[in-house]
Amino acid sequence: LITRFSYAQIIENSERVAWKIGDLLPEGTRLEWSRPFLPDSLTGIGAIAFLNPAEKLLLNHITGHAYTNLFAFVEEYIIGMAMQHAEAELFSDHTAVRALLRFAEEEVKHQQLFQRYGELFRRDFPTPCGVLGNAGDVAGVILSKSCIAVLLVTLHLELVTQQHYIEAYRTTGADDLDPLFATLLLHHWQEEAQHAKLDLIELYKYADLAGDDGVARAFDDYADILASLDDLLRQQAEMDARSLSAAIGRDLAAAESDAVIRSQWQAYKWMFIGMGLTNQSFIEYVAELAVDATERLLALRAVHVTGA
Ligand SMILES: [Fe+2]
Ligand SMILES: [Fe+2]
Repeated sequence: LITRFSYAQIIENSERVAWKIGDLLPEGTRLEWSRPFLPDSLTGIGAIAFLNPAEKLLLNHITGHAYTNLFAFVEEYIIGMAMQHAEAELFSDHTAVRALLRFAEEEVKHQQLFQRYGELFRRDFPTPCGVLGNAGDVAGVILSKSCIAVLLVTLHLELVTQQHYIEAYRTTGADDLDPLFATLLLHHWQEEAQHAKLDLIELYKYADLAGDDGVARAFDDYADILASLDDLLRQQAEMDARSLSAAIGRDLAAAESDAVIRSQWQAYKWMFIGMGLTNQSFIEYVAELAVDATERLLALRAVHVTGA
């Protein structure tokens, strides 16, 4: 298994697109509360019939805040993964070490960017919004899985950042969205694009070492990780329903609360799981790993993607 990517080229690209947190969130940044942060094509909030436009906008903001936290959350394990891969190359390929350390450093930067954004959000949003908080524990569980499975889920997540930006912000109606949130997604993707190439180099390297049995076990672990992620996304959706109730200052009826949870969970499932499982590049890269790789992805799509 050979990719057309090289560590040296990735370092060069990474240096070219690199940004600073202060470039994106300079001193004095205030969030634009009059516009949606995320497009309806990602959130699906427009279809929740019983919410009025002001309530939909609040739920959109709650979702944007949860989105940035979810990325900071999953990137906790990715930092650990990149460090492990850098360490494995420590006494051999120093170009690889540099590329992989940049990878780790950029992920810490992304976490700090999203955390800083979360602070700005919570400072000015009128009511508290719950978000997942046990990132370290979840990272430990993910990193205990097979190295190939961890790389698969990382490649999957890093590729979807591109889809979130391209599909959401380069479509009609995107002009109405908050430009700051769009900028965060654009810059996140530009660095993630380099990470995805590193994932692929590492994935093919370890798949060659693991052989067919190792790759088959990795698909089982990948399925387990997606199932755990799905459960975390449901927890986030439940928190969102409570956050919305606090923000609009009224209790939601049980049926309304259930509808909000279902809609939010569905949106997160699509953004974080479905978009990866249906990503054309992901499908093509993974097909190289095993004869039944495409079948395994289709089976996972049947579990996680509505209408698959
Ligand atoms: Fe990232
Ligand atoms: Fe990344």
